[in-house]
Amino acid sequence: MPMSRRRFLAGSAATAAVAAAPLRAGQAPDLLTAAPADQQVAPEGYARTAVWAYDGTVPGPVLRVPQGGRVRRRLLNALPVETAVHWHGVRIDNAMDGVPGLTQAPVPPGGSFDYDFAVRDAGTFWYHSHQRSMEQVERGLHGVLVVEEPEPPELDHDLPLVIDDWRLDPETAQLIAGFDKMHDLSHAGRLGNLISVNGRFDPAQTVRRHDRLRLRLINAATARIFPVGLDGMEGWLIALDGMPLAQPVAVTGAFTLAPAQRADLIVDVTAEAGGTASLVTVERDGAYGIARFPVAGQAAGIRREAPNPLPPNPLPRIADPAAAPLHAMTMTGGAMAWLSEARLNGETLDGRALAQRGKFWALNGVADRDTAPFIDAHPGETHRIAFVNDTMFPHAMHLHGHHFREITDSGALGPWRDTILVERGRTRQVVMVADNPGDWLLHCHMLGHARAGMASWIRVA
Ligand code: C2O
Ligand code: CU
Repeated sequence: MPMSRRRFLAGSAATAAVAAAPLRAGQAPDLLTAAPADQQVAPEGYARTAVWAYDGTVPGPVLRVPQGGRVRRRLLNALPVETAVHWHGVRIDNAMDGVPGLTQAPVPPGGSFDYDFAVRDAGTFWYHSHQRSMEQVERGLHGVLVVEEPEPPELDHDLPLVIDDWRLDPETAQLIAGFDKMHDLSHAGRLGNLISVNGRFDPAQTVRRHDRLRLRLINAATARIFPVGLDGMEGWLIALDGMPLAQPVAVTGAFTLAPAQRADLIVDVTAEAGGTASLVTVERDGAYGIARFPVAGQAAGIRREAPNPLPPNPLPRIADPAAAPLHAMTMTGGAMAWLSEARLNGETLDGRALAQRGKFWALNGVADRDTAPFIDAHPGETHRIAFVNDTMFPHAMHLHGHHFREITDSGALGPWRDTILVERGRTRQVVMVADNPGDWLLHCHMLGHARAGMASWIRVA
């Protein structure tokens, strides 16, 4: 595969591991401070980029907790605007879900909020702002949450790799202002001109030939879908969206990582000593390296056996998916299929009036979170959702507080996920067990789309 480095149009994102010591009564929780910062996102020689960051870096600190442990963080808001933290993919207590206007009040500048919740599932999760998330996630307010298996697989390196893209001014390396541009909101979202991994352009991590790595890939971009692949490494997909696959799947070509999705890989470095292995993204004109793994020396031994599957998480049993009530969620709107009308705050508005209010999309004819839930479920019930994409764009649909499984065309159940990519013109059906009480958002994780109408919610009570 001919491969080059991706150009900028072409940080010091040190991801510090933070031990989660159990708190004693009366002890103040560790802080997570959201504040303006600056970081070398663009290549050396360009200016540092002004960002909004957790604890001073984009991505924020890698929080590591053991499965069954608790995450305890006091969010301190040192931003000039309101904020809140959502813990994406965690089957969390509803009150800790971090959605302003649904599960908590936004945290004002100078304010704080104590997040404190148990983590039942081991895996790769992430956290990000859920207040004006289109802008705040884009500016850098996201980080990694690793919940560790009691007996993790044997590895030489465990590497969270947060993939993001930035729309930077090529002269100044500053974020181009305008997070609500009508063109972005009504098309594919705010696509960038610089791809970063762990907050910097084309970072390097030295490895040895035959090293075994766990790559925890996270797509933190607000809009871009990444086809990702490997060069000079071979391995297996072992988990998606935090949840272990029943069997590792050998990585052969590129696979797709939609916004908010995660993929855990176990890979062995096969590039020669002195060479370079790479994480690549595949674009129209070829594969581009986005993170480098210079190979210095050789580990003892030769290529190892396929890894064992990770131990399963305590997910619900889906008894009879075909018998579960089916709820269609039809997505409409966007460029080339403009809304003629939709409901907004109980009023029916025409397309022009919706556009004036920054709304370009609807879910079942409603251009925002409705007053009534899309599904009103009793705890323990099984429900199916058919995501019907009647638009000209793909959408990455994400449900809070639960994972679901796709029911494929053949009727088989796919892997557990919290975000599913629904290509334009496609219908994808999922099944979920509503086992987590509370009000849960269901929205497109192309965050401009969510902002412009693609947001709904379910109730489990
Ligand atoms: Cu990643 Cu509604 O969230
Ligand atoms: Cu969308």
